[in-house]
Amino acid sequence: LHYIPHSSAKRLPSLTIRASAAAVPSPSDGASHPKSPEQFRVEILSESLPYIQRFRGKTIVVKYGGAAMKDPKLKASVVSDLVLLSCVGLRPILVHGGGPEINRWLKQLNIEPLFHEGLRVTDAETMEIVSMVLIGKSYNINADTVAGELAASLGAEKLILLTDVAGILEDRDDPNSLVKETDIEGVKKLIAEKKVAGGMIPKVNCCLRAIEQGVRTASIIDGRVQHSLLHEIMSEEGLGTMITA
Ligand code: ADP
Ligand code: ARG
Repeated sequence: LHYIPHSSAKRLPSLTIRASAAAVPSPSDGASHPKSPEQFRVEILSESLPYIQRFRGKTIVVKYGGAAMKDPKLKASVVSDLVLLSCVGLRPILVHGGGPEINRWLKQLNIEPLFHEGLRVTDAETMEIVSMVLIGKSYNINADTVAGELAASLGAEKLILLTDVAGILEDRDDPNSLVKETDIEGVKKLIAEKKVAGGMIPKVNCCLRAIEQGVRTASIIDGRVQHSLLHEIMSEEGLGTMITA
């Protein structure tokens, strides 16, 4: 398990750089040789080219839920990332959840949402709301589970789960404790130590199931960050937690 504290990790700024932005300092050059936005743009492009080549024609299953689904700006950024990925030859498949919307309706009707180990308990009353929100979708399956199984059965290269945290946190109360990369053993240890809890449990379990069935990597990334998909797929460092075999 390679643990790199979030705060000290070298991070790529957003892939969108405004023309009016001041020169962007490079982590390697320090403040003495600030890079112009143009130079920076070229560097981002050249960093992403090997990934475009490596992942061309490959299936990437993306589960989209939580915070990223609530904010219209983030919604637009996820969709534009998917369009870009598809334009450069990747084959993204989107699986969406409906948790926040279902909870909003349940609250309006004074029904308390019930969860057991991160999965919704869907009683008859809740099912009516679920059907109403998702339009007909007669058995409520957790969307992480759907995405994981889909990735496995399609022989996908990658499974990517967008959520409302930075990724798997070594200490779930410390946003700076992001686990950048780990493997099956590392994840199993985090589960055994009860460091992974609540909604993160079905997420990591479906990542494990997908990888055990041949999906090369599974990432849990921050859907609250604009262009998080591009950042994860097209940069060396990625954005969230990447799990490998
Ligand atoms: P989504 O709605 O995106 O499917 P969930 O709310 O079901 O996401 O699951 C994500 C939540 O899991 C996080 O917001 C966090 O509260 C919780 N969680 C529990 N353990 C961890 C951990 N070790 N690292 C990160 N998040 C964790
Ligand atoms: N872009 C590369 C890939 O998708 C590396 C991603 C690394 N991500 C991480 N969270 N450590 O394979």
